[in-house]
Amino acid sequence: MSTVIVVGLQWGDEGKGKVIDILSERAALIVRSQGGNNAGHTIVAQGREWRFHLIPSGILYPHTTCLICGGVVADPEVLCQEIRSIEERGICLDGRLLLSPYLHLVLPYHRALDLLYEEKRSCDAIGTTGRGIGPCYADKAQRLGIRLGEFVDPEKLEKRLRHVLQLHEVYRMSPTEFAPLFEACLHWGKQLSRYVAPAETRLHRALVQGQAVLFEGAHGTFLDLTYGTYPFVTSSTTLSSGILAGAGVGPTWADEVLGVVKAYTTRVGHGPLPTELMAREQALFGDRREMREVGTTTGRERRIGWFDAFATRFAIHLNGVTQAALTKLDILDSLDEIKICTKYRLDGEVVEEFPVLVEDLYRVVPEYECVPGWRRDTSVCKKMEDLPKEARRYLQRIEELCQIPIHILSVGPDRSQTLWLRQTAEVG
Ligand code: IMP
Repeated sequence: MSTVIVVGLQWGDEGKGKVIDILSERAALIVRSQGGNNAGHTIVAQGREWRFHLIPSGILYPHTTCLICGGVVADPEVLCQEIRSIEERGICLDGRLLLSPYLHLVLPYHRALDLLYEEKRSCDAIGTTGRGIGPCYADKAQRLGIRLGEFVDPEKLEKRLRHVLQLHEVYRMSPTEFAPLFEACLHWGKQLSRYVAPAETRLHRALVQGQAVLFEGAHGTFLDLTYGTYPFVTSSTTLSSGILAGAGVGPTWADEVLGVVKAYTTRVGHGPLPTELMAREQALFGDRREMREVGTTTGRERRIGWFDAFATRFAIHLNGVTQAALTKLDILDSLDEIKICTKYRLDGEVVEEFPVLVEDLYRVVPEYECVPGWRRDTSVCKKMEDLPKEARRYLQRIEELCQIPIHILSVGPDRSQTLWLRQTAEVG
């Protein structure tokens, strides 16, 4: 298998970072193609912790080339910082990090607008990461975006930025002063210019040559702009199809779609989470920090819910998932009993389709199946046979309900805490 798309099947934070990190070892090329620095993941490698927002974490392997393709929106300040901090830790990026000239820039006025909209929405706020992602994608669709190709060319940038700021006056937004912003852009542009390269051409060449390519999805299925729990979603397409579109690649190039799903469910920000724990269940899961359930990007505590097989089935369909990775099984180690949501009811009736409207999603009553817990430490397990039989039963039930084979199981943050349950998930 040469081309794998890794996609989150819940509300983001499924533990994709670790799965991508492991698969990257065998990949020649790693591609990021949607979202921006609203995403983030933490990797623990050789006892060191690394946080990534824009640059694929696969950069930690010296043999890889990492591409940030046209579908991404990148905050130049954050990107410059990330490049600097990676280089300071001894990783060489020259010729290994390629930034597409098609990608759009998130500028300070996008961040300001993001916060302003949230403030105006008041109690209907989305709970965005405040990174300017929505306003940047809105500008892109409005044909008011600034792409890296022009950003790194002072003459083109000046013309474009003047034009954009002039048109922004239509919104009567607090006017942005041209000169200081232009200065800042020149500074960022100068730093980024050496990385600008025809990333999409490089990707196409790699695919034609049959090299192992890993597409690193950001966020999660239910944050998708179209099929997520709108309007409590992000502003990009988070599905496998959007990942390919953002990379400028047609659907026939994908060999496998690996869906990553947590052994339970989490969500940050506002919006419906049908299987959210009831007040009396909260204490069962303990401290969010110990569970590593604090957002990498904003430091917010994540909301917790039981595994939702009904939603996961829909996510599998939306992404064309061919195999799954189940993460954070160890977090359930201390529970006496574990719940799996098998269906929703609305006004007493079984719901056939995943609800379109958030008003319905807030009202659905999940129906649960209870399975016994294992009350043993799974974080030390190295193979399927080491797992307690109750844990194996839990995995089997998820496979049955979701109709998807689990190929990878994660039982802790370290690379070594990974079980390969079937072999075909490997890249390469
Ligand atoms: P935005 O992407 O900053 O506009 O935020 C929109 C919604 O998506 C908010 O609820 C965020 O918390 C959520 N969100 C965006 N990116 C991620 C992610 O990578 N993981 C989890 N939630 C995210």
